[in-house]
Amino acid sequence: MNIEVKEVKLTEAKLPLLLIVLTEEAKEKEAHLKLTGALKKMAKGVIELGDFKATKGESTLLYSNGKIPSERIMLLGLGKKAEINPEMLRATLGEASRKIRDLGVEKLGVSLSHLTQGKLTEEAAAEIAAEAFIMGSFSDTFHKTKDLDKFKAIKELHLITQKDTEGIARAVEQGLIIAEAVNLCRRLAWGPPNHITPTRLAEEAKNLEALKVKTTVYDRDQAKKMGLHSFLAVAKGTTEAPQFIVMEYGDPKHPTVALIGKAITFDSGGISLKPGENMHTMKADMTGGAVVIASMKAVAQLKLPLHVMGVVPATDNMPDGGAYHPGDVVDTYSGLTVEVISTDAEGRMILNDALSYAAKNYKPTVMFDFATLTGAIEIALGEHAMGYFANDDSVAERIEEASKTSGERVWRMPLWDVYDEQLKSDVADWKHTGGRPGGAITAARFLSKFVMDVPWAHFDIAGQDEQTSDKGYNPKGSRGPAVRLIIDLLRYWR
Ligand code: BES
Ligand code: ZN
Ligand code: ZN
Repeated sequence: MNIEVKEVKLTEAKLPLLLIVLTEEAKEKEAHLKLTGALKKMAKGVIELGDFKATKGESTLLYSNGKIPSERIMLLGLGKKAEINPEMLRATLGEASRKIRDLGVEKLGVSLSHLTQGKLTEEAAAEIAAEAFIMGSFSDTFHKTKDLDKFKAIKELHLITQKDTEGIARAVEQGLIIAEAVNLCRRLAWGPPNHITPTRLAEEAKNLEALKVKTTVYDRDQAKKMGLHSFLAVAKGTTEAPQFIVMEYGDPKHPTVALIGKAITFDSGGISLKPGENMHTMKADMTGGAVVIASMKAVAQLKLPLHVMGVVPATDNMPDGGAYHPGDVVDTYSGLTVEVISTDAEGRMILNDALSYAAKNYKPTVMFDFATLTGAIEIALGEHAMGYFANDDSVAERIEEASKTSGERVWRMPLWDVYDEQLKSDVADWKHTGGRPGGAITAARFLSKFVMDVPWAHFDIAGQDEQTSDKGYNPKGSRGPAVRLIIDLLRYWR
């Protein structure tokens, strides 16, 4: 989508559609319409007829019939002025973006000054509008070959202002980069497992070289020499080539942040095979890896003054004759030994190596990992929040702040050492699972053994990867979770 800032009067803009948001106060006081001339008359007309009340998400379409140069006007309700906030604005615009796309309209203008009614600056409103339209109207034909003409797309968005500033242009640019990163994550996460293989993820990472992201990919043999035994234990069961992907952006003189993402390109459960029903949804078990690749892209495009490392261990988890068994004792990069209880708890097997690899080799200021790790987190929090675990309160504070600015809901879970009782093994340093009680917490406790003393947070994003119907700025499919949260964490880093 091409986004341009235009300094033009609404009554003079010539576009297929003009989008104007209004609050419920517009019913009582004409001044709240913030419109003039023919536009004011038209809006007043539908409001007086009672056909448009400006409740949240309500929309109505007017045809100008030559009264103004633009052909259509969409009035979009925001509800009460006092209840507007950035996240609801993003969601309401996201919802509207699909209505507009499905009308077949490819080019539209949005009045920026109307978007500032919830006390936002035009800069903030511009970023929100860019994000909402790019994320909200996202669709992909994936591998369809028929009825492709049903896939419509908005090609051009004009943000209409009375005062074009450098600040607005910058905000648009940021919104565009961030939302495109979310869409990249969605595309990868929702792609089928025979296409989105570890090799394909490695290619996606290598594509970032053009943005000065240095990418190194280690294959099975190299990973073996490096001592990534726990990662390779999972990869033993598949003929699909595993890839241990390492990305680097920025000057090492800056603070080093390590982003680590679980990329199980298909999780069959391995020998501890999952039930067949819904197994296909495990194509999205590489969402954590997609989050990291997409975030690295945005970090590089935004040229953030940080040194960011991305580590993505990528492999299928399959039940082949050579697969690892329940009962195996596996060496890890850290030197600790691990007793395998269920081969379906493969995420923590590949992550422990990635975490200690990053901690040991980069000595980061902070590490974040993202993983569709446990069904238990979905039981605990449902689909509306990511659970996170942090070994450092100041890292947790940063996360809470980024959650507020990005609108991505998070909930801090406990990381108390009492849960270690469940991870005691008779034959190795640790068992890798602790049974059903507190399953997301014991998983996080297990990971905590591998971070050395690096400040760290683990995001369990299981339950966040799939959205079953269109909602706000998230169309059905992968939400591309956590990408905006990470970027807010990093771009406001002080
Ligand atoms: N990839 C799954 C977790 C998952 C479940 C993600 C549902 C998305 C939706 C993970 O590898 C897994 O299978 N975890 C097991 C762990 C158990 C064996 C300790 C689980 O949660 O049941
Ligand atoms: Zn699993
Ligand atoms: Zn998994």
